[in-house]
Amino acid sequence: MKFFIDTANIDDITEANALGILDGVTTNPSLMAKEGITGQQNILNHYIDICNIVDGPVSAEVIATDFEGMVSEGEHLSGLHKNIVVKVPMTLEGIKAIKHFSSKGIKTNCTLIFSAGQALIAAKAGASYVSPFLGRLDDISSNGLDLIAQIRLIYDNYAYDTEILAASVRHPMHIIHCAEIGSDVMTGPLKAIKALANHPLTTSGLEQFLADHAKGNS
Ligand code: E4P
Repeated sequence: MKFFIDTANIDDITEANALGILDGVTTNPSLMAKEGITGQQNILNHYIDICNIVDGPVSAEVIATDFEGMVSEGEHLSGLHKNIVVKVPMTLEGIKAIKHFSSKGIKTNCTLIFSAGQALIAAKAGASYVSPFLGRLDDISSNGLDLIAQIRLIYDNYAYDTEILAASVRHPMHIIHCAEIGSDVMTGPLKAIKALANHPLTTSGLEQFLADHAKGNS
């Protein structure tokens, strides 16, 4: 499973990239605003900065909601760097835009996926990735993992190339369950990625090894 980090924070992206297990980055307008990145040119420059850190797909979201606006914005974003993936919201206008981008060889990430039907039409339009929002479904007492399993089944039935990018990941167990289901990618915060390395028996075992080594070498 590929690991993307879901942030616009340069320090977190740099730290995750240094681990050597990072495959890409996803951002969204809220994450950009959280980092205080405002204004068209600053936002575009920030995407380029991210692309210069991570050698992998970097999702950059369009703000336009109409087909023409999405096409013009998306083509501009994709021209910024070879690794930019144009993030398009799941709407009918978005589906038309994804079909357009797909015919031009521009990669897309269809975002705000909350149902299998949405994932199905995004795949038919030629989306490179679909982003089911796992955590936001869990937040409303719906099962986000069940949705990912349903999309996996549908895509496997028809050998769709669209990759399932589990988004809105909140904690390490989300990541593990996504890997069990066969999600192609997960995108989550640095904290959830780093938490995968933790186990109290690893910590105590290492302390014991070091203490025993110190005793034998004192
Ligand atoms: C997906 O690409 C989104 O950026 C993201 O995963 C949303 O996560 P949230 O529900 O934690 O805001």
